[in-house]
Amino acid sequence: MVRPFRSSGLLKKFTKWTVLRTMSEESQTAVKIVEVGPRDGLQNEPVNVPTEIKIDFINKLSDTGLKAIEVTSFVSPKWVPQMADNTQVYAGISKKKDIDYSVLVPNINGLESALSVGIKEIAVFGTVSESFARKNTNCSVQEGFDRIKKIADLAKNHDLKIRGYISCVVGCPYDGVIKPSAVTKAVNSLLELGCYEVSLGDTIGVGTKKTIHAMIKDILRTTKPESLAIHCHDTYGQALANICTALDLGVTVVDSSVSGLGGCPYAKGATGNVATEDLVYMLHGLGVNTGVDLKKLIAAGHFISTAIDRPTASKVNAALYSKYFL
Ligand code: HMG
Ligand code: MG
Repeated sequence: MVRPFRSSGLLKKFTKWTVLRTMSEESQTAVKIVEVGPRDGLQNEPVNVPTEIKIDFINKLSDTGLKAIEVTSFVSPKWVPQMADNTQVYAGISKKKDIDYSVLVPNINGLESALSVGIKEIAVFGTVSESFARKNTNCSVQEGFDRIKKIADLAKNHDLKIRGYISCVVGCPYDGVIKPSAVTKAVNSLLELGCYEVSLGDTIGVGTKKTIHAMIKDILRTTKPESLAIHCHDTYGQALANICTALDLGVTVVDSSVSGLGGCPYAKGATGNVATEDLVYMLHGLGVNTGVDLKKLIAAGHFISTAIDRPTASKVNAALYSKYFL
């Protein structure tokens, strides 16, 4: 028989601690990973990856247990030629029923093309930095949100799921430090426009535990963590630490790119996203369920790194590929 504590003070402390600990454990027993390698990764590659390779790559990712994959973008091919084969890629992949295949859309023009191939989920993107908005989308921050409203209205008419991004959430390559309150306002705008979730993009990877914590804490004053995702580029090697900070604050959706692919062609200094292999390894080490088969993921990462003739940026892939496959 377990005897209860006698001291009421100690009991109160113990109970509070136990409840908090249990809550935190429960909230982190599962994390959803949104794989953005085929879009965020390949949009930034100097070599043009053949359409069949992209399709093969996405099909391999679909076989790893991932439940969300951003497969391409319907942006202007004059701006991002690497994504010009968007309709062929979307139409060519084998789609599994339990996976959400989303596409990035910058304007009505892009949404109309995406609708023509039967997309079910889009991702829209805004920012709080005037200079980045201009460089990335050739408009002001407010004009960007006006465009998103038009996209969202049409998307809702077609019953599409809408995911949102805010870029440069802690720092911008042109405007410098970003205020958390500006990000909070932008997140609320995207949620009001109909996004089911907003992904917080540290586009150039300058965030640290301190700045990511302050930014998310500010957002949590008005928004539940269930409406947020974290999207960390790993330029300064801070991504996994920053993701842990977001998880500690209750965020349970994390974006990543297999093999650490990625970057934004219009954000000076942006390198790859956190590698999905490294993220999965860390989460499994924490006892967090991702539903992802690490071995298959490593094979998919190796496949794309070989195709683009670049060594993997995933430390876990580099460490485990030979152990698993050679
Ligand atoms: P613009 O030049 O101002 O657009 O670009 P426009 O409306 O004047 O059109 C110019 C030409 O592009 C026209 O063709 C349009 O038809 C065509 P023309 O008459 O000259 O022959 N056009 C299109 N064609 C196909 N699909 C379209 C489309 N739109 C126009 N959708 C625009 C404005 C927004 C289009 C452009 O700036 C653009 O495409 N920007 C996207 C840049 C991009 O993809 N950046 C990377 C993604 S964001 C990111 O990576 C960050 C993220 O990962 C999160 C994070 O890390 O923070 C999401
Ligand atoms: Mg990105």
